[in-house]
Amino acid sequence: FNSGALAGLNVHITAGPTREPLDPVRYISNHSSGKMGYALAAAAADAGARVRLISGPVNLTVPTHVERISVTTAEEMLQASLEEINHCDIFIACAAVADYRPTSIAEHKIKKGNEEIMELHLVKNPDIVATIAAREDKPFTIGFAAETRDVISYARGKLDRKNLDMIIANDVSQAGIGFNSDENAVTLVTHTTQIDIPQTSKRQLATQLIEQISLLYKTEK
Ligand code: PMT
Repeated sequence: FNSGALAGLNVHITAGPTREPLDPVRYISNHSSGKMGYALAAAAADAGARVRLISGPVNLTVPTHVERISVTTAEEMLQASLEEINHCDIFIACAAVADYRPTSIAEHKIKKGNEEIMELHLVKNPDIVATIAAREDKPFTIGFAAETRDVISYARGKLDRKNLDMIIANDVSQAGIGFNSDENAVTLVTHTTQIDIPQTSKRQLATQLIEQISLLYKTEK
């Protein structure tokens, strides 16, 4: 029995990067370490939630009382996110999903040729959080927005376009916060409120985010 702020609720969280293979030895990815998503999973479990952590390839240990589902590509992350979605109360998309993947994966290692320029053909990946938020019986759906400029206005655009209930704006242009660092600073944005959470450790920030999320879930849902 757990009497925390999220007791009895199912929270599903995506975390880390996706990897989009080019050939058997190469891939396209990004600098997400998974630290923010894993910190959220730990904080949600501490608040009493049943946590399903859908994770791209990272070097982190699974927080206690958290179920981890390991995936590699965006398409795998989407499939894993759709499983059990009917039981999900709160969906948090913290993963840095590759927006595009190579149109085809070479069966053998791509050989170096004589040409100086090589072109890659990419195709758009499915948008995981938008797919979840488009469901008729959607969970309370929260996205992140990693931006390098006009952070709040781009975040608001994603809140509307992806039909989210909340977006967490993350200025990733500043040194010491965002991708791969141990600390972060964010602004939580809904259709009715905007709350700044100043720079602190990702674990501390996750606890504050989970507190705010549980309050807004109860008032806005
Ligand atoms: O992992 P760390 O090193 O700790 O770094 C944390 C972080 C910077 C990765 C994290 O705080 C963060 O900002 N995550 C979102 C990164 C991102 O890719 O944002 P975006 O603005 O491109 O995407 C907007 C939202 O749509 C995000 O919730 C993203 O998960 C989601 N998305 C994007 C593309 C896609 N194909 N599917 C998605 O679900």
